[in-house]
Amino acid sequence: MSIPPSITSGLDASELDSVEGRVDYDHVDFSYDDGERVLDDVTFTANPGETVGLVGPTGAGKSTICKLLPRLYDVTGGEIRVDGTDVRDLTVESLREHIGYVG
Ligand SMILES: Nc1ncnc2c1ncn2[C@@H]1O[C@H](COP(=O)(O)OP(=O)(O)OP(=O)(O)O)[C@@H](O)[C@H]1O
Ligand SMILES: [Mg+2]
Repeated sequence: MSIPPSITSGLDASELDSVEGRVDYDHVDFSYDDGERVLDDVTFTANPGETVGLVGPTGAGKSTICKLLPRLYDVTGGEIRVDGTDVRDLTVESLREHIGYVG
């Protein structure tokens, strides 16, 4: 309980409000702590109102892609934007308020 979280809001983070819902994954790379590259240069856009399905074999990285959006983990390369703003430049609280996730 006393361990400080590693993912926090930056000092000049802005609030995410009046969301349109455009999501951009822009050349995203990701590795978990063990260092093996799980995502390598992933780029796609989900436009507001669009339904996007991620399809691939078990272990391909679909769930990992979803976990990066609310910053359960941070990308190790590239960036993810919501309505044009890098998720790391938004407060964690306001970002997560706008995302539903069923595991
Ligand atoms: N917490 C974690 N720590 C280390 N490696 C992980 C972790 N979670 C997932 N992985 C690894 O990351 C890779 C991608 O896993 P992920 O769960 O994103 O795949 P998936 O496409 O959702 O698979 P599935 O179809 O089985 O749900 C796999 O090699 C997996 O073993
Ligand atoms: Mg999965």
